[in-house]
Amino acid sequence: MKRIVYFLGLASALVALLLAGVLNVRAGGSAVAPAPNGLEIPEGYRDWRIIAPSHRTDNNTLRVIVGNEKAVSAAREGRTNPWPDGAILGKIVWKDATHEAWPAATVPGSFVHAEFMVKDHTRYRDTGGWGFARWVGPEQKPYGQGPEFVQECFGCHLPVKNSDYVFTRPAVIP
Ligand code: HEC
Repeated sequence: MKRIVYFLGLASALVALLLAGVLNVRAGGSAVAPAPNGLEIPEGYRDWRIIAPSHRTDNNTLRVIVGNEKAVSAAREGRTNPWPDGAILGKIVWKDATHEAWPAATVPGSFVHAEFMVKDHTRYRDTGGWGFARWVGPEQKPYGQGPEFVQECFGCHLPVKNSDYVFTRPAVIP
């Protein structure tokens, strides 16, 4: 009898685990919470193509600027002022690290954040046609206390108003 009870307990625990797995996959399997302005982390951004790399000496970070299909085609065809609706630019940031076998080489260290600009000239009219969002750290915690965090992003992108609020110039890839 003891054995049966033990077996039943084990079996129901297994069923519960399986169900949890199935439900998680149904929900997209993404545990990343949306940004305070409702933007979801773009699906598949880890596989996006590169528009340009960049390096900042004021905070010692390496970055790659990537884009979804619409953004990369626009970048390669020079349609970037304005960028087309539906284009999403992503920026992935790592702390500078030094390669142990070649100290002059700066390589990606710990992950800092991933952030995005989503172009929709009607929806995001108040912030230059761009929806902004950032997810911080390996745990991908949404940045900002409330939806007004976008003013900080937009404010700092104002100096490049004449290039549709985008700093990055697509790197030449012959
Ligand atoms: C202190 C100034 C500053 C703030 C605040 C800021 N950015 Fe930027 N952002 C930059 C600069 C400078 C670049 C270009 C250089 C680089 O790659 O970092 C940039 C680049 C980007 C890019 C790549 C496209 C481009 O414009 O070159 C994205 C995407 C981006 N930022 C998103 C955001 C988001 C989202 C926020 C707010 C959560 C934000 N930024 C806040 C200064 C800022």
